[in-house]
Amino acid sequence: MTTRRPHHVFAIQACTTSDVSRSAVTIEKVNPSNFNDFFRLIGKLAQFEHHPLPDEKARKRLREGGLSDNPNYEAYLGFTDGKPIACVTVYLSSTCPASPTFFLENIFVLEEYRKTGVGSEMFRFCQEEAKKRGCEHMEWRVHTWNVPAIRFYEQCGGKCIDRIDTWDTLPRGN
Ligand SMILES: CC(C)(COP(=O)(O)OP(=O)(O)OC[C@H]1O[C@@H](n2cnc3c(N)ncnc32)[C@H](O)[C@@H]1OP(=O)(O)O)[C@@H](O)C(=O)NCCC(=O)NCCS
Repeated sequence: MTTRRPHHVFAIQACTTSDVSRSAVTIEKVNPSNFNDFFRLIGKLAQFEHHPLPDEKARKRLREGGLSDNPNYEAYLGFTDGKPIACVTVYLSSTCPASPTFFLENIFVLEEYRKTGVGSEMFRFCQEEAKKRGCEHMEWRVHTWNVPAIRFYEQCGGKCIDRIDTWDTLPRGN
């Protein structure tokens, strides 16, 4: 079955933001020893976005996709006081507009830590990574129903550049 889900497409210039004040978030790349923490947060994001909860097969795919020698995404965890409370997933895409684009696929903060600057810190980290990788801008999508996230992205300086329907032909889940 073909499904369509409307999204806003947002973009922002990649930039260094060293003058911006920091909250106490430590950011680590996802690796074999913290992968389970990442997987737990992805489960909560799936719940938030009304997707099926990732099962063992999904865990294996995610692990291979992120931690193999030829990964198809990168993931980072945000910690406060040693506790994993946030994650982002990103990848590079380049065919259109023919310049490397840093794509922010997911950003998630545990509900009890929201509105304390953690999401902004994770977002700024991504902008800095984009710049380091030679990307002129960072882009992402957001569901049109996710008004709080849209407000967050606007506050981060993002601009809505398009409104698209996302199509797929593959069954979701397993
Ligand atoms: C979107 C999300 C990552 C924001 O993280 P956060 O840590 O709460 O964001 P911050 O505390 O850094 O917020 C920065 C600013 O964004 C705006 N903002 C954040 N959450 C908002 C909300 N629910 N409603 C309105 N504005 C909001 C505010 O202006 C805020 O500044 P303020 O607290 O000084 O008013 C977080 O709410 C989340 O994980 N949501 C669930 C998952 C999700 O929607 N991900 C995005 C999918 S595309």
